[in-house]
Amino acid sequence: MRTQIAIIGAGPAGLFLSLLLDRLGIQSVILELHTRQYIEGRVRAGLLEHNTVQLMHELGVGDRLKRQGLEHGGIELRFNNRGHRIDFRELASGKCVTIYAQHEVIKDLVAARLAANKPMLFETANLQLHAIDSTSPYVTFQHNAPGQKSTERLDCDFIAGCDGFHGVSRTSIPQGVLTTYERDYPFGWLGILAQAPPSSHELIYAHHDRGFALLSMRSPQVSRLYLQCAPDENLALWPDDRIWHELQKRLATHDGWKLTEGPIIQKGVTGMRSFVVEPMQYGRLCLAGDSAHIVPPTGAKGLNLAVADVRVLAVALGAYYSTGTTDLLAQYSATCLRRVWKVQRFSWWMTQLLHRFPDDNPFDHRRQLAELDYVTTSRAASQTLAENYVGLPLP
Ligand code: APR
Ligand code: PHB
Repeated sequence: MRTQIAIIGAGPAGLFLSLLLDRLGIQSVILELHTRQYIEGRVRAGLLEHNTVQLMHELGVGDRLKRQGLEHGGIELRFNNRGHRIDFRELASGKCVTIYAQHEVIKDLVAARLAANKPMLFETANLQLHAIDSTSPYVTFQHNAPGQKSTERLDCDFIAGCDGFHGVSRTSIPQGVLTTYERDYPFGWLGILAQAPPSSHELIYAHHDRGFALLSMRSPQVSRLYLQCAPDENLALWPDDRIWHELQKRLATHDGWKLTEGPIIQKGVTGMRSFVVEPMQYGRLCLAGDSAHIVPPTGAKGLNLAVADVRVLAVALGAYYSTGTTDLLAQYSATCLRRVWKVQRFSWWMTQLLHRFPDDNPFDHRRQLAELDYVTTSRAASQTLAENYVGLPLP
């Protein structure tokens, strides 16, 4: 097989890239480790920045998003048992964010790719990248199509490493090339989906002595809630009653606000880390999305940052195939990293503002509350939060 761009991974980065390239008339093949059913069913985050929503519409994959997405013009920061609204529309030039689950995005993108009859292979195994520092890179893999288990080879001009944090692309780069920057947080999030109407129209980020809590949603019938927990929290110790009890405490207000409970239909624990590798490219391999960087979920940026990377990559590849210039490709990593670091800063800032850290002393606690007070009363500070939350402008 031969193509122009081999895309490793059918997550948001790989799928958005394939549609962007298609629009430019550039061929690609997507190679994905898991089944279609698996990637379309995996519960993850669900908040789309203004730019991500616009792009889905531009790519013609926004119909369900338009019907089912929930537009939010603000969020609430809750601390000292009181709520304070940050009004995005007013503070961020009329922009807003949209709640729409990541796996619904995946379904829309996969459907578009298949409808266009473009190649996408699921359940590829033993995938390896070769000759990435030459002008003729290639990928080998096994594909479990019925009756077939031989090793296949895909020759290409470039490889897009969109295979997430645990993928093979980043680790195919020779030792010594990449510098890693990271921070682990001493907590995780216990997340649930509950068959319960959301108790608020907008998201609530709650700072509490017992730890952070977040109220989000997936639809007018389904709530998505999170609790700060230990990074290796044992879910067996969290029967449904205990989860609701803890959420009730952390989200309680002085004015009698009520958290609606309902049957819990999904539970999971997510670790929290900040991670970046530099540069995001080597030879003919470009990393995009979680394969190059991870953000803690507090700012809801993971998916949106992956989309921002592949927009830069698609423009650079478009310039290469239309004029032969490699200038934008050479700048790919530097262009992406300017945004990546700003988004890292914002995600870290939201995280340190809202969570309890085991080493914090009463001074740190007072400082956090003062910062929350400042953010919710100073127009300059709330505008900083708003413009980052709805998404910084594209380069
Ligand atoms: N070969 C082929 N595919 C692979 C391999 C491999 N060796 N390893 C991983 N993959 C696939 C995964 O199965 C997954 O479908 O690559 C895809 C990577 O997708 P994501 O992990 O979603 O990463 P990305 O597209 O960068 O999106 C980042 O999605 O996962 C969230 O929190 C993340 O919101 C962030 C965003
Ligand atoms: C979610 O709805 O899953 C969600 C929303 C906001 C976040 C993180 C996760 O900051």
